[in-house]
Amino acid sequence: MNIGIIGAGSMGSGIAQVAATAGEEVMVFDTNAASLDKASASLTKIMNRLVEKERVTRKEADDILGRITFVDSLDYLENSELVIEAIIENLEVKQSVFSQLEELVSDICIIASNTSSLSIASISSACKNPERVIGIHFFNPAPLMKLVEIIPSISTDQEVTDKAKATIDSWKKVTALVKDTPGFIVNRVARPFYGEALRIYEEGIADFATIDWAMKEIGGFRMGPFELMDYIGNDVNYTVTETVFTAFYFDPRYKPSFTQKRFSEAGRLGRKTGRGFYNYGEGTTNPEPNKDMDLGKKIFERIQAMLINEAVDAVFWQVASAQDIDLAMRFGTNYPKGLLAWCDEIGANKPLTILENLYQTYGEDRYRPSSLLRKMAKENASFF
Ligand SMILES: NC(=O)c1ccc[n+]([C@@H]2O[C@H](COP(=O)([O-])OP(=O)(O)OC[C@H]3O[C@@H](n4cnc5c(N)ncnc54)[C@H](O)[C@@H]3O)[C@@H](O)[C@H]2O)c1
Repeated sequence: MNIGIIGAGSMGSGIAQVAATAGEEVMVFDTNAASLDKASASLTKIMNRLVEKERVTRKEADDILGRITFVDSLDYLENSELVIEAIIENLEVKQSVFSQLEELVSDICIIASNTSSLSIASISSACKNPERVIGIHFFNPAPLMKLVEIIPSISTDQEVTDKAKATIDSWKKVTALVKDTPGFIVNRVARPFYGEALRIYEEGIADFATIDWAMKEIGGFRMGPFELMDYIGNDVNYTVTETVFTAFYFDPRYKPSFTQKRFSEAGRLGRKTGRGFYNYGEGTTNPEPNKDMDLGKKIFERIQAMLINEAVDAVFWQVASAQDIDLAMRFGTNYPKGLLAWCDEIGANKPLTILENLYQTYGEDRYRPSSLLRKMAKENASFF
């Protein structure tokens, strides 16, 4: 299959690697020559490393690289059967690229966006045939993260959705079908992992190290929320939260945190600046957690209840199937368990009781339990 990629940044080059590894012929276009050079050099380096580690043979690596062509004009993408756009996150720029592309490619070409925060409906509205436009959302780094969210808009043809899903499945990815709603699955359902951890810190219940310890030690998460925010970057993570909050008409469940905003404003972005919630400088020591099991359990169960409620609410609003929501959280964030399977395991009544207590204590809409969680608890029902 001929695949076109627009944008040779971190996502575009990662997606090109995935597609070429799956045997597709790939053309990567970028308006910036330096980005093309950088992507080409970085892909060569990555493939050399994979040969050294004996993950691929020299011949396979050369074949993969041979299937990727970097081009400096959109016109080269004319014969593409699927184009995935991964350029700057700006609606006007994306719309302009989509309307140019539509004139260039054949009628059967599927045009996809890798957007994280814009609606597929808004991007496709620039096209004469929005029926062939879809969201194909990879996670960073695309070659390592197994999940891809497939997002048809209200205009997308079923045939286009089926073909897009089958193609990405054939690239050995795990696909989750999701409605064109803010944050899709992962960036919506994962919000409480950060937001509730920040809130617990802001209330003075525990410090960063203790909250991270509780989530790892008791919850089984690979990274604590503060370690993960430092890894993602406080600027990036804050912007995702603010975008989701705004897109949900300021639902208090997604309210951003002043703590994270200040860390971001102060340039304490995390690993990439050497300092975030933790200090990454050489010879520095970070605070030790308070390993009080009762406190740890309280922290973990509060964040877990908020996460489960978010996942259950996404089922309630038919954002995706229960199965796809659990797949998305396991493969898009590496959570130890699917949140709905976790709900089944502990029983819906447990997170419901925690949320009702929080709601009683604070009187805030943020802690309202999903009506589906109430129903599940009342009927003692399970998702799977
Ligand atoms: N970085 C992530 O973690 C991540 C994850 C999932 C989705 N996304 C989405 O993927 C897209 C790209 O993100 P990224 O992190 O790779 O960005 P990036 O800044 O690394 O790369 C963007 C590239 O697009 C090029 N570009 C800009 N305008 C262009 C145009 N009109 N035509 C052709 N090329 C153009 C730039 O020169 C640059 O090389 C965004 O929509 C983003 O929301 C990002």
